[in-house]
Amino acid sequence: MPQTKEAWSSRLGVILAVSGSAVGLGNFLRFPGLAAQYGGGAFMIAYFTSLLVIGIPIGWAEWTMGRSGGVRGYHSAPGIFHVVMQHPAGKYLGMFGFIIPVMVYMYYVYVEAWCLGYAYLAVTGQLAAGANFGGIFAAYTGIAQDGSAVHFGLASVGPWLVLCYAINFYFIYRGVSRGIEQVCKWGMPLLIVIALIILGRVLTLGTPDPLKPDQNVLNGLGFMWNPKDLWADLQNAELWLAASGQIFFTLTVGFGAICCYASYLKKKDDVVLSALTASAANEFCEVGLGGLITVPAAYVFLGAAGLVGMGTFGLGFNVLPSVFAQMPYGNFFAVSFFLLLFLAAFTSSLSMLQPGVAFMEEGLGLDRRSALALLGVVTAFGSLFCWWFSKDLKALDTIDFWIGTMMIYLQGFILIIVFAWSKGMGIERGWREAHDGAAMRIPVVFKFIMQWVSPVYLGVVLLMFVLSSVFGWNFSFTAPHFAPTGRITDLIGDAHSNVARLAVAFIIIGVGFTTLLVHLAGKRWTAHPPERHS
Ligand code: PFF
Repeated sequence: MPQTKEAWSSRLGVILAVSGSAVGLGNFLRFPGLAAQYGGGAFMIAYFTSLLVIGIPIGWAEWTMGRSGGVRGYHSAPGIFHVVMQHPAGKYLGMFGFIIPVMVYMYYVYVEAWCLGYAYLAVTGQLAAGANFGGIFAAYTGIAQDGSAVHFGLASVGPWLVLCYAINFYFIYRGVSRGIEQVCKWGMPLLIVIALIILGRVLTLGTPDPLKPDQNVLNGLGFMWNPKDLWADLQNAELWLAASGQIFFTLTVGFGAICCYASYLKKKDDVVLSALTASAANEFCEVGLGGLITVPAAYVFLGAAGLVGMGTFGLGFNVLPSVFAQMPYGNFFAVSFFLLLFLAAFTSSLSMLQPGVAFMEEGLGLDRRSALALLGVVTAFGSLFCWWFSKDLKALDTIDFWIGTMMIYLQGFILIIVFAWSKGMGIERGWREAHDGAAMRIPVVFKFIMQWVSPVYLGVVLLMFVLSSVFGWNFSFTAPHFAPTGRITDLIGDAHSNVARLAVAFIIIGVGFTTLLVHLAGKRWTAHPPERHS
């Protein structure tokens, strides 16, 4: 069996790598969009509650399980769950930790390519004042018609997508410390410097148009952060669902990526403080940088009306370019912003590939080259699918919903249950293992949180999410009403979308095929367990 002797070269390296995975498009686009949509202050209360109750505790659980599996020679979620649980079901419970990163990669890398491509458009002056930003956005993303984004000129996404594939696979090929760690060691500080420069510019914009005195930076910050009707907003269950979903997405917990990264730690390497540091770095980038740049800048130039109804992508690739075009030295800031987005996305997409490669190596016995080749073919197929079926971004959106939102809740739920309740681990052992070599102790209240509060909170969130986002529940217990949402009508009935159907069929085939692979991997692991590391 090919042995992976990969390891992080330093403690800072692994923290930067996990932070690199966490800090991504979610921080600079998804978060500000959601916070503004749900009324700023109220959203933040739900957001920080979720951070404390599920984000940080499940993060500790995932780091601990990852290191535990790694020491015993396993580096992918199916393998880690298999050895940690010591039960035949373990590998199947871990398989979503392979499917999620691989499938999210397929569309995430596509958006990563937009970022690079937009930086190029800005460099060549195509995003200057007077440009038709809505038209560029539509042509670039192919949002109006299937197939319309598939071009290979430098002003379209094609070459950038190829380039993104090449660099992602190249650095994964170089390995954990020579590839991922190196990229994050340079990329993360650079990302923060760029973000600080842009932030400095945004916060000093003042009132750029004296004829519109209301559109100033303070009001922009107020628009983003001031609670509106706090009490009423807090009773909106959807806000709580959005906030917990964002916590998962942004911290990368429950995806199988962190347990893969943590599996390259040594037995006595700290996990408690490292996990906390990586989460803190992510929150700094999300709340402190992402939250202060995107929405206030747009507000100052366009007012609240310019922001309404803009989805995450509209905000980033349609509204913001027009905002930069109105700033002095706008081109410089546009290039910087899209490079920032690209760097954030790149360090995240690496963490989606590594779990895939790790499983193919240890589960199927492939060498690194073959594993990468296979993963390249599978993910390229998915990316082509999203690229071609671009109308309304239907393919991307469907996979993002079922995998990037729903399945994450499910895997996060499974993970905390396995950590706190399984025979092989359980809270007592998990708590002890987490503190092995730890640089700080976890406050003891978290033992209770991990065992009871996180699973219950997450279970409720998962259930409510399915009931509302899929079955269209009106959140009423007294007069419940259900009206199937677009997620269902996309699939069945007269108004169905063939693209959504194909996307879901693709997901089902992916899950089926993975089940088979995991079954084969299980046989292999029983017959020849990998060597332990120390
Ligand atoms: N945490 C990333 C973000 O905020 O953009 C997204 C992400 C990273 C998703 C890694 C999945 C993953 F495996």
